[in-house]
Amino acid sequence: MRIAILGCGYVGLVTGACLAEIGHSVVCTDNDESKIETLNQGSLPIYEPGLQEIVDRCVAAQRLSFTTNLGEAVRHGDTIFICVGTPPLPNGDADLSSIDAAARLIATESRSSKLVVEKSTVPMQTGQNLARALTIYSRKSSHTFSVASNPEFLREGTAVLDFLHPDRIVIGVNDEQTEGMLREIYQPVLQRSVVPCPVHKGSCPVKEAPTLLVTSISSAELIKHASNSFLAVKISYANLIADICESMGADVEEVVLGMGLDPRIGPAFLRPGLGFGGFCFPKDIQAFIRLGERAGVDVSLLRDAEVINKRRVDQFLAKATHYLWTLKQKRIGVLGLAFKPNTDDIRFAPAIELISKLLQEHAQVQVFDPKAMTKSRSLFPSIRYCQDAYQVAEHAEALLIATEWEEFKNLDWERIKTLMQRPLVLDGRNLLDAQQMQAMGFEYQGIGIPVTQAAAETARAVALR
Ligand code: UGA
Repeated sequence: MRIAILGCGYVGLVTGACLAEIGHSVVCTDNDESKIETLNQGSLPIYEPGLQEIVDRCVAAQRLSFTTNLGEAVRHGDTIFICVGTPPLPNGDADLSSIDAAARLIATESRSSKLVVEKSTVPMQTGQNLARALTIYSRKSSHTFSVASNPEFLREGTAVLDFLHPDRIVIGVNDEQTEGMLREIYQPVLQRSVVPCPVHKGSCPVKEAPTLLVTSISSAELIKHASNSFLAVKISYANLIADICESMGADVEEVVLGMGLDPRIGPAFLRPGLGFGGFCFPKDIQAFIRLGERAGVDVSLLRDAEVINKRRVDQFLAKATHYLWTLKQKRIGVLGLAFKPNTDDIRFAPAIELISKLLQEHAQVQVFDPKAMTKSRSLFPSIRYCQDAYQVAEHAEALLIATEWEEFKNLDWERIKTLMQRPLVLDGRNLLDAQQMQAMGFEYQGIGIPVTQAAAETARAVALR
């Protein structure tokens, strides 16, 4: 089928490339001409494992192209996926002006009837407003527009895998014809017949075919927001348990392991640490709070989850202060900048907040991240960007682990110990084994693992602030 993608961010690029990979003819466009230029030069504006290979193959097969000509892209697609950004406004609401602009573009540039699919994360009822906007902006034309919601559940770092091997595909539609078109688009994924699968190179693990859930447009929109907010609440819950463990002398890793063995709870998203970041959870929970308030519903559960999350970095910093007494002029190494491993995305990354606060305390900060250094340089021009984790350790009085990159786990920690001025490791992601680190002679402190009375008191003082 002929598909247009409006917006070449994470969602748009992965969606466009994967739809081309499963056989469709896809044209992607974006307001940001430099992004399209980068793509047309054969590079990607983001790092996402496996994506480059798919883009290269589909461009060569002429199933995927990128254009700055927005109208041309609109006219190419019988189905148009809106993948534009919906960033937070100062009051927490999602800024939907790019969706409105996309509706105007589609309405004015179309020369035939279209199916318009909202893929961007949007508050409930956006589909209704989108349909209305398309009707208003196209009042001089005879073309019709049907609207659908098809929320994405892609995680950065595993987005290609998530697209090609989803657990579920949700489509919110108003009519059977639209449902039929979306079924056809996703047929290879639904039938698990993507051959050869670019992720597993032809040997995909045995897994049940994804469920295709057909709902109303409003329900589909809500499924996305409710899912992200639930996961955010789950993480904050794990962090609350971690705080109790740390103060009272239990080990959170044992506790969440025990909890996760209950299939009603499950082990996923119970990893305690510096909290959730990225461009999805922090903004989505805020937008969901606003939506609930407008619906007249008590959203204090969501608000508390957000508050717990916002405290994580301060509590971690309090721990660093406890160990180092004062941070001023102390050389501190930070491992990790990205909001999670396997991405170069630093938006709302706890590591970024941590570094800002270390700088406010006049610490001397040196950092390394396998992928996110380039994106961080303009934010913090004065800190030291190191070639690798070993350079970060040089003369440091503490190493703070902010992102759980697998390669940090596999470092030569004996060597790190000899490089550091003081072998103090504060692990904000519980990446390392506490006993092993202590046996090696490190002063090591994770999250939610019993600490000395004094450290517990400092953390509690911050929590009560
Ligand atoms: C999230 C959702 O997982 C996707 O399903 C959704 O499609 C996406 O948002 C979106 O709305 O576009 P993503 O933001 O890429 O995906 O990352 P996650 O893997 O969900 O992690 C989010 C944050 O939570 C990260 O900062 C991560 O470090 C943190 N996290 C995650 C924890 O602190 N503990 C956990 O147990 C899990």
